[in-house]
Amino acid sequence: MTARRVSPNLLLNQAVARRQAQGESLVHLGFGEARLPVFAPLAARLAAGSAHNAYGPVDGGSEVREAVAGYFTRRRLPTTSDQVVVAPGSKPLLMAVQLVVPGDVMIPRPAWNTYAPQAALAGKRAFGVPIPDDCGGVPDPARLRQEIRAARVLGHDPRILVLTLPDNPTGTLAGPERIRELCAIAEEEDLLIVSDEIYRDIVHDPATPFLSPAEVAPHRTVVSTGLSKTLALGGWRIGAMRFPEGDRGRQIHDGVVSAASEVWSTLAAPMQEVAAYVYNEPPEITARLAASARLHGAVARRVHGIMTGVGAECRPPTGAFYVYPDFEPLRGTLARKGITDSLSLFEHLFDEYGIVVLAGHQLGDDERALRFKAATSLLYGATRAEQQAALDAADPVRLPHISAVLTRIEESFVKLTS
Ligand SMILES: Cc1ncc(COP(=O)(O)O)c(C=O)c1O
Repeated sequence: MTARRVSPNLLLNQAVARRQAQGESLVHLGFGEARLPVFAPLAARLAAGSAHNAYGPVDGGSEVREAVAGYFTRRRLPTTSDQVVVAPGSKPLLMAVQLVVPGDVMIPRPAWNTYAPQAALAGKRAFGVPIPDDCGGVPDPARLRQEIRAARVLGHDPRILVLTLPDNPTGTLAGPERIRELCAIAEEEDLLIVSDEIYRDIVHDPATPFLSPAEVAPHRTVVSTGLSKTLALGGWRIGAMRFPEGDRGRQIHDGVVSAASEVWSTLAAPMQEVAAYVYNEPPEITARLAASARLHGAVARRVHGIMTGVGAECRPPTGAFYVYPDFEPLRGTLARKGITDSLSLFEHLFDEYGIVVLAGHQLGDDERALRFKAATSLLYGATRAEQQAALDAADPVRLPHISAVLTRIEESFVKLTS
């Protein structure tokens, strides 16, 4: 059996926890988790759901699937409950799609660090296509055409296009024009689109238009979602997927349900209770999502300001909770400190300043580039009280516990670049 590596972000998170337990003061920006407390009504639902101890249907009970169908329908994606499967996280659903749908995979470069390893587990090749200058989560359309042709010439068979809307790692959202362009390519090249919309409800400005490829290319788009990010419930493992109508969609749906039946059986019944409540979107959930998105936006913008303030290039964050700066303009200055690539930049930040980021090459980016991902959602405080204060604040970056860390980050980057 081949030895497989553990996901680099999970490894890094464990290493940071160990060093923090030994008393080291670190600023951890290397893990894509929203450090926010559990919203109280969710805990109440979970407790109520604990009485449900039967396995239940593989795709999820009808109540939760109806609720998820309603969630998509309210987002201009008319959906019936038999198009929905819920699961312990969106990760296993994304993996199941890769197992069920033949052919190789086109992913943006950089991208969330799980798509390529999942493709490898499914015996596929993943081809990273550079993202455009203005946003991540999507390949540059012209480059995508070239890379598909190049892959075919080499005997590969690209059949799946993965998009992340909004994006991890760049914290940006591709606009409607880009989505239309990519859907046209998917039609021409007969690609299935997998639209990972786990950050969909974290768009910083509610006026920003969101176009799902499932609106443009409904018969060839699978959409994944979940509660790990929007409601900071990563450890509860709640994910869902919407399959297209029609024969092709049904085939993929059935394949995913078959994989689910042999691997995870179903989403834990108490979690289905939580998911049904959330996806019905009562007003308190809508308010909580809005407050979270506001907080994520405020802190990401401030960190973006720090990065551009010292001379890095960085796409302005518009969604999710990340920034992805590029220190190429400062290459000369950094080279004098021995920083010449993604790994040495990561190490220098860790060793000199105790700042932990996820190096760009871990996300498929060029090893020689001076880029990294910073998850700004880890800056809301160490205690539940601090995190709640961050959610409640009109101007969270001015809270003493947040502004102190931001100052440390700013001072570190000023030193790094001078
Ligand atoms: C883009 C993206 N998709 C999916 C996931 C996984 O989410 P889940 O907790 O639903 O498995 C993550 C988590 O980091 C993510 O960033």
